Amino acid sequence: MDNKAFEEGQAAVLAEADISHMEKDVPAPVTVNIEEGITFTWSNLSVSTIPQEGRRCCGLLKSQPKPEKQILTNVNGIARPGEVLAIMGASGAGKSTLLNTLLFRNLQGLQVTGSRIANKSLVTPTSLTAVSGYVQQDDLFISSLTVREHLLFQARVRMDKDIPREQRIIRVQEVINELGLGKAADTLIGGERMKGISGGEKKRLSFASEILTNPSVLFCDEPTSGLDSFMAQSVMEVLANLAKMGKTIICTIHQPSSQLFSNFDQLLLLAEGQTAYLGEARKAKDFFSSINHPCPQDFNPADHFVQVLAMVPGKEEQCRDTIDAICHKFSESQDGINLRKAVKIEEADITEKDQSKADKVSPYKASWCEQFSALSWRHSLAIIKDPMLVKVRIIQAFVMSIILGVIFIGQDNDQAGIQNVNGALFVLITNISFGNIFAVCNAFCVELPIFLREHFNGMYRTDVYFLTKQLVELPLYIVEPMITLTIFYWMVGLNPEADKFFIAAVIVLLVVQVVLSLGYFMSCIAPNIDIALAIAPVLIIPFMLFGGFYLNSGSVPVWLSWLKYLSWFLYGFEALLINQWEGVKDISCIVPSIDQNSDNFSCMSTGEEVLDQLAFEQANFWRDILMLVVLAVGLRIMAFIALFLKARRKQ
Ligand SMILES: Nc1ncnc2c1ncn2[C@@H]1O[C@H](COP(=O)(O)OP(=O)(O)OP(=O)(O)O)[C@@H](O)[C@H]1O
Ligand SMILES: [Mg+2]
Repeated sequence: MDNKAFEEGQAAVLAEADISHMEKDVPAPVTVNIEEGITFTWSNLSVSTIPQEGRRCCGLLKSQPKPEKQILTNVNGIARPGEVLAIMGASGAGKSTLLNTLLFRNLQGLQVTGSRIANKSLVTPTSLTAVSGYVQQDDLFISSLTVREHLLFQARVRMDKDIPREQRIIRVQEVINELGLGKAADTLIGGERMKGISGGEKKRLSFASEILTNPSVLFCDEPTSGLDSFMAQSVMEVLANLAKMGKTIICTIHQPSSQLFSNFDQLLLLAEGQTAYLGEARKAKDFFSSINHPCPQDFNPADHFVQVLAMVPGKEEQCRDTIDAICHKFSESQDGINLRKAVKIEEADITEKDQSKADKVSPYKASWCEQFSALSWRHSLAIIKDPMLVKVRIIQAFVMSIILGVIFIGQDNDQAGIQNVNGALFVLITNISFGNIFAVCNAFCVELPIFLREHFNGMYRTDVYFLTKQLVELPLYIVEPMITLTIFYWMVGLNPEADKFFIAAVIVLLVVQVVLSLGYFMSCIAPNIDIALAIAPVLIIPFMLFGGFYLNSGSVPVWLSWLKYLSWFLYGFEALLINQWEGVKDISCIVPSIDQNSDNFSCMSTGEEVLDQLAFEQANFWRDILMLVVLAVGLRIMAFIALFLKARRKQ
């Protein structure tokens, strides 16, 4: 869908729908994605950490062995359409781990056994993504978008292809109203650098993003934490309404009020990774009474259950015995027996064929072109509206080039000028390299967790994200170095012929592309931004030393010469020097501070002699350009492969 058309359509539809009216009265719901209900079952799920042996290094250092830690033990469960299943338990009981395991998410370092079944078919990460939503415990957003822009983007990539754009815009307004986000709809989301909507509004926004598509199964990890009691109640009502529409809702809840507790249909109590109860929420009190843990009168039952199942510091043994006894009694109870029977029935008809069929389902709702268009729109908005990214970087380019220009200003065509011009060109490449590598690592690493979450949500493909990011950022990475080059070039007084200036511009832009590729690559392989920023200088400095300025290109030790051939400093510097000195004649031999009759003084009167002195050859010009292109493309492909591997859906 065309971006402009989408925005125009949005204005028209909102005008027609009369938002002021809509904020007071919830409009008639848009019918989206109504599918048959999904019965979601998990059978004998066990999760434990992968044990590690202690390692010795040179007989001196020894890392501690890490024994296997059991987090979930043979957990069975079933969630039916039309019901809200609330998962409760003390902190550390394994609630988030269970949700992550059901969704195949965030399981690095853990081993999982058991099966997840939806409507009698084995679930795979791909098949589940297409029909589910997951509101995670922590919120991640592009901070420079407004609430409405964020939801419009979500609507474009997450709603079914055949839903017309008017319907999508109305649906966005509908969830804004439903979650009381009307007042904040046109406010920036904000983040660390700029203040935006409140924490509670962010929580509701992540919830809104997931319910936008009315997914058949909705998983929520503590959707009410951080909300006031009124808002928590509204969120629970939205969940209850979704359940009434035939959706399956599975959520973890912390400290629900008695009123909130009364909204649950089913309750799953987890204790030390085991099932302590799964059944109707209103019958849980009776179960606890039957096992000699009655809920005191006027006591919130939710608080009582969590207290009985908690591990009290100093009384671990005793608590563990109590928990084991309760889990055993539940397993023997009629509810426990019924649960195992129900799970067995769901498991009975699973075949290998089901799994291969499930794997073929595409997790993406939008076509490649729609993903491309929506992501380009969002990247552009994020860049245009982020003052740090555009304004500061342009101002920085002006200031840096003027400072460097003043230091190297007005070089003459003489012996001192040769050294200064060469130094100025090397400083130009160094400045561009360091400036851009830190900028790209910062920007890309910050956005990477958002990309990974949205990609695993089935919103867009890795290639579309990578491609649109490069294309949208391209103008910025052309304008900024051009500002630096233009100011610096004319202040220093480099070769004044117009074609020389434009060739220098091409070389500088190619160097920028190599640096960006390296920045993307490092951002994709580093586990986090701190490591990416720490390894950047370690990588750049050796390449800089082999650039031909500090160490004569002909003097690089043979065993290190391979590093020289990977140095964009060398190719960029040599190409810029050839461009600068080729054809230059009549360089003045006057150097005021040197005795020109001394034996050590050798005058360089032509550009060729300057290049010879640095062991550079004019014939290398096209090799240098070609190598810059090869490095830019090669590193970019490696960055894409690294990102692709990171974003692979693991089975
Ligand atoms: N990747 C992991 N490696 C090692 N231990 C883990 C890992 N993930 C979870 N755990 C451990 O498993 C237990 C359960 O963690 P989980 O996050 O599921 O608890 P929770 O019930 O969601 O707690 P909370 O209510 O505090 O969010 C904790 O003791 C936690 O330390
Ligand atoms: Mg948790």
